[in-house]
Amino acid sequence: MIFDRVKSLDAILAAAGTKALPRTLGAFHLTMLGVGAVIGTGIFVLTAEAAQKAGPGMMISFVIAAAVCAVAALCYAELAAMVPVSGSAYTYTYAVLGEPLAWMVGWALVLEYAVAAGAVSVGWSGYVVGLLSHVLGIGLPASLTLGPSAGGLVNLPAALIALAVTGLLVIGTTESARVNAVLVCVKIAALTAFIALALPVMQAENFEPFAPLGMGGISAAAASIFFAYVGFDAVSTAAEETRNPQRNMPIGLIGSLAICTLFYMAVAAGVIGAVGATPLMTPDGAAIAPGSAALTAACEGVANNAVVCSKEALAWTLREIGWPQIGNLVGLAAGIALPSVILMMMFGQTRIFFVMSRDGLLPEVFSSVHPRFKTPHVITMVTGVFVALFAAFFPVGALADISNSGTLFAFALVSVAVMVLRRTDPARPRPFRTPAVYVIAPVAILGCAYLFFSLSAYTLMLFAGWATLGLVIYFGYSRSRSHLGRGVLEVPEAEPEAPPVPVPPI
Ligand code: ALA
Repeated sequence: MIFDRVKSLDAILAAAGTKALPRTLGAFHLTMLGVGAVIGTGIFVLTAEAAQKAGPGMMISFVIAAAVCAVAALCYAELAAMVPVSGSAYTYTYAVLGEPLAWMVGWALVLEYAVAAGAVSVGWSGYVVGLLSHVLGIGLPASLTLGPSAGGLVNLPAALIALAVTGLLVIGTTESARVNAVLVCVKIAALTAFIALALPVMQAENFEPFAPLGMGGISAAAASIFFAYVGFDAVSTAAEETRNPQRNMPIGLIGSLAICTLFYMAVAAGVIGAVGATPLMTPDGAAIAPGSAALTAACEGVANNAVVCSKEALAWTLREIGWPQIGNLVGLAAGIALPSVILMMMFGQTRIFFVMSRDGLLPEVFSSVHPRFKTPHVITMVTGVFVALFAAFFPVGALADISNSGTLFAFALVSVAVMVLRRTDPARPRPFRTPAVYVIAPVAILGCAYLFFSLSAYTLMLFAGWATLGLVIYFGYSRSRSHLGRGVLEVPEAEPEAPPVPVPPI
């Protein structure tokens, strides 16, 4: 029952058509693609949350999260190169572990993409609200810029940016290569400026005590900061267009993760060294949860004079060390660049829903394509409304954690699938093979499990609720309508084309 209805890989590849894309991307292009897709709300905003969870020990958290991503990325890349079709982890799982698990992965990917889009929207809101206040003197009330759990009513800017991006996706905006390349440069320039100004004023005593909340705090921060690395899967989906993928794919994946890790470590060291990263505690010595009304109240007590209180950690730090204008420019960089991360995430979500609908597991209307714009407008709008609601009512850290739970689940199953497929279909050509797969894949599974169970109990409960809802829908609706289950043949020509993938940044 759990492993039934395995879709044939040949059928998937045939249905996807054999549109051969030119192999133009080299190691450098892939690395830049990864860096562009990865840098976002994680480093710009969640650094403050990681500091509240782990104190200076968050530097170790960044390394742990990067290591788990690196091994998961190597597994992901083998399947991405073998099955270069839309649907990513959902499609791979369908072809290896069968429909029920594929459904669960697709369902978990809603968390990875839609909830992550909500998180990035909230991150964007924090920077834009800060910018409005510092540059134009426009102070928006907390009731309209924070969700209820953080002491406000509704995060209006976050909901509005999510709806604006939805509008762009409906009319068919995919980022042009040039815009994307510019945004990569904007983000790198902002982080470089931050590092250049923060590192010289570092004070060694700010690193003491290094781990005020122990290994538990470091693990919890690693599970949250994992969000900062999500997006590297963009590299593996470009396998088809890569020259010599066996060599260039691991360089692109590991290279982009290594570059991001170095930047993240330097930024984290800069924040800690320049302004300190001591978590705010309750009077009885317990850490206060990031994003909670209790933290908002505690922050009022310290006159917002701690980075853990900031919604725009990097800009705040620069203002604090005497570089207010550069702080504003870093805020502007985040304001300009983060919407592209929202766009990538929402695009990924619509594409997964599109494929699940085409497989009969979701209502057919989800894969309907707008006659003029040629985009899956229905599912884009449905997704956009949900993303806007998430963004309006939840704090960034909670959204990032929930998103991570789905991503970690999907990555773990992909790592299982890569080993299973080596056994069940050893002869199939693999443009890229995961090195030492029987070591790397189990390490990836263990790493994902470690981060997953380091998430808060609240996040795990939400994940369990989401998974249960998914199972109810699958057995109540999708299973009996599945095209594979009903033996409906896929006729590629009769189906609407999936919307195009955003162009790689260079
Ligand atoms: N890694 C992406 C970010 O941090 C999702 O925004």
